[in-house]
Amino acid sequence: MADKDKKEIDKISGVETTGHEWDGLKELNNPLPRWWVWVWLVCILWAVWYWVLYPAWPVPGGATEGTKGYTQFKELAQSQKEILARQQEYLDKFENASFDQIMNDQELYAFAMAGGASAFKDNCATCHGSGAEGSKGYPNLNDDDWLWGGKLSDIYYTIKYGIRSVDEQTRISQMPAFGKDGFLDRKEIDAVVSYVLALSGSVGDHGEVEDYSLGKKVFAQNCATCHGDNGQGNREFGAPNLSDKIWLYGGKREDIFYTVYNSRAGVMPTWKNRLDENTIKELAVYVHQLGGGEDENYDMSSQVDKEKVADDAKQEQPQSTKE
Ligand code: HEC
Ligand code: HEC
Repeated sequence: MADKDKKEIDKISGVETTGHEWDGLKELNNPLPRWWVWVWLVCILWAVWYWVLYPAWPVPGGATEGTKGYTQFKELAQSQKEILARQQEYLDKFENASFDQIMNDQELYAFAMAGGASAFKDNCATCHGSGAEGSKGYPNLNDDDWLWGGKLSDIYYTIKYGIRSVDEQTRISQMPAFGKDGFLDRKEIDAVVSYVLALSGSVGDHGEVEDYSLGKKVFAQNCATCHGDNGQGNREFGAPNLSDKIWLYGGKREDIFYTVYNSRAGVMPTWKNRLDENTIKELAVYVHQLGGGEDENYDMSSQVDKEKVADDAKQEQPQSTKE
């Protein structure tokens, strides 16, 4: 062996050096710690095992597949299946629950509220506002002033079939266009508008005390059938209460004049074909709790009566109130 190959022995530790030296520091040639070597060997074995079982080596067009056929897509699909199954369990329970059961079961109620809130944002906020506060022609759903009723079953029916919608079972009624269609003359309309303003406690625009006798007569003959003798409204016809200060189309003289002259006939679409039964139920619960929900015996079978009421309203609908 050549001289330069001969390893130097460190005098202090008695261990051979590697021959590497930095600024007088020499590296000792100690063997690797045994534990370290074992870990290293185990890692190598583990890597080989992993290459065989799982996708590991990049190859053209993907990677080696591994004998287990594992992919993250499969794992995702599996966990999605589990989530859907868990959701389905709720949906089944929800579907078979009456409103009474939903309102008395915290889990079902929370489920309805969460689903209703998001369905409302997606489908209803465009017209009713994101807080359901409404705007001109679009009713506020937070208050307890209802055109067609604030019980769960009323709200459910309204959402499902709509108001003056294309559905056969829609809520329907039609206030005549008293001016445009010539049922009342200008003087009579002015008089009845003054009377309507007075009903809600707003005095006439001119400040003077008006003579309401003509307005009162016109109202009794033409309006009371739908709006009630004292203008308190009638939900069978969706006719608003005219004696409060809540206005769907505005409470100024010109707004009311416009309504009486032309009629309005707001349209709420039917959601029967666009939303599934569960979503409509969730929405009914959501709208009901917004503030104006009314109590009832939350029984879905009351829908039968509701349908009858709607049919009756269609038949009783006054075509012209002036003859
Ligand atoms: C295209 C506009 C529009 C959309 C979208 C719409 N609505 Fe309506 N909605 C109306 C109008 C207009 C009325 C009032 C109709 C009338 O004059 O009687 C109404 C009335 C209602 C009423 C009856 C209020 C009462 O006082 O009786 C409820 C409840 C209601 N909407 C809920 C909903 C829900 C829930 C959705 C979403 C699924 C929705 N609306 C989507 C226009 C809309
Ligand atoms: C066939 C039933 C019917 C008759 C008759 C009727 N109305 Fe109406 N009226 C309604 C309905 C339904 C609405 C609200 C829904 C819509 O048109 O969008 C309404 C709305 C109104 C409004 C708007 C209220 C608001 O909150 O903005 C006024 C005002 C009104 N009617 C006054 C009258 C007067 C005055 C008469 C008689 C000259 C009359 N109505 C006759 C059914 C009727």
